[in-house]
Amino acid sequence: MKALILAGGFATRLRPLSCARPKTLFPIVNKPLLQWIFERLARGGVNEAILAVNALTQFYIRQQKPPKCGLKVRFSIDPPRKPLGTGGPVKKAEKLLGCKEPFIVLNGDIFADIDYKKLLDTHKRNNAMVTMALCSIKDPCSFGVVELNGEAIKRFVEKPPKGQEPSNLINAGAYVLSPEIFKYIPENRAVSIEREVFPKIVEAKRMVGCCIDGLWMDIGKPHEYLEANKIILDSLGSTIEKPKPNGFKVNYPVAFDHGVSIGEKSIIGPYAIIGKNVKVGRNVSISDSVIFSNVEIADGASIEGAVVGEGVYVGKHAKLEKGCIVGDQSKIKDNVDLHENSAVCPAKEIS
Ligand code: GTP
Repeated sequence: MKALILAGGFATRLRPLSCARPKTLFPIVNKPLLQWIFERLARGGVNEAILAVNALTQFYIRQQKPPKCGLKVRFSIDPPRKPLGTGGPVKKAEKLLGCKEPFIVLNGDIFADIDYKKLLDTHKRNNAMVTMALCSIKDPCSFGVVELNGEAIKRFVEKPPKGQEPSNLINAGAYVLSPEIFKYIPENRAVSIEREVFPKIVEAKRMVGCCIDGLWMDIGKPHEYLEANKIILDSLGSTIEKPKPNGFKVNYPVAFDHGVSIGEKSIIGPYAIIGKNVKVGRNVSISDSVIFSNVEIADGASIEGAVVGEGVYVGKHAKLEKGCIVGDQSKIKDNVDLHENSAVCPAKEIS
């Protein structure tokens, strides 16, 4: 089975962190999201993944080379300066996907425990054109919401006004599609699959839903990204290697990648996810935060509820408060206090 992964969006809501990396390469507990996606697809019986990207995303993926997990990986590239949206890339990849078998399409920015075999079985049993993975959430109004009749989707409303949601079941961003779908997607332009294509398939009575029970997270906004890391860290439990505190204190859960060094009397955690080769000085405190690789944090700094991009320097006694996002390669000088929800562009110096 083939899968098309939509990964060519601009992740505007995750700026400035997304200025230098596509969403699908954001680390989730020190592993790129795309690797989590590949692993799950491979387990679900997929043997080929097609990445629907723009030229820059392709460049970053080729450079980072996340493990392919046994999948054959190909690229389908949006035309320059003409992003194709969530539907256009499906049409663009028509030849690569082929016209014989149903295939999977999924958003490259979701972390989801999807049983792809179950999704495919539901698809075949219903002779559907679209089978949408569904997830039940408390507040569905910022997602696509469905109304079901048995397994059939009776209605699909993209981002309904609050209070007018037909149910709590939302589009989990993963589908099985039959090749007939190509007839419903216009060529060579941006198409929203949710707004332009799905309503037509509902009308044709060929769209069904399949509920997923496991974890589901969208990492589209900074707080969602941070939350996803924390939830997944919790779910990994004892499978994650515990650091050996040597003069510093650890409040679990935490995750350390290779080459992390921590100075004396520092307090790490809970929920400190620290990337490769990060150097932490003495008397530093880090909690509820994701620190990307090659960051240096000087003595006495404190970081709480922040995301710190790759190669950042955090000066002595600097303070990063809740919701701060620091772009790659920035320098936060000594004694700087970054107030709640501050965002620092890549390569900036803040004094
Ligand atoms: P925001 O700008 O923050 O809304 O993010 P986005 O547009 O990157 O993501 P959105 O949640 O709107 O899109 C869902 C998925 O479709 C993501 O995995 C995107 O990477 C992907 N996607 C969105 N637009 C395009 C596009 O024009 N081309 C391709 N190939 N993929 C896209």
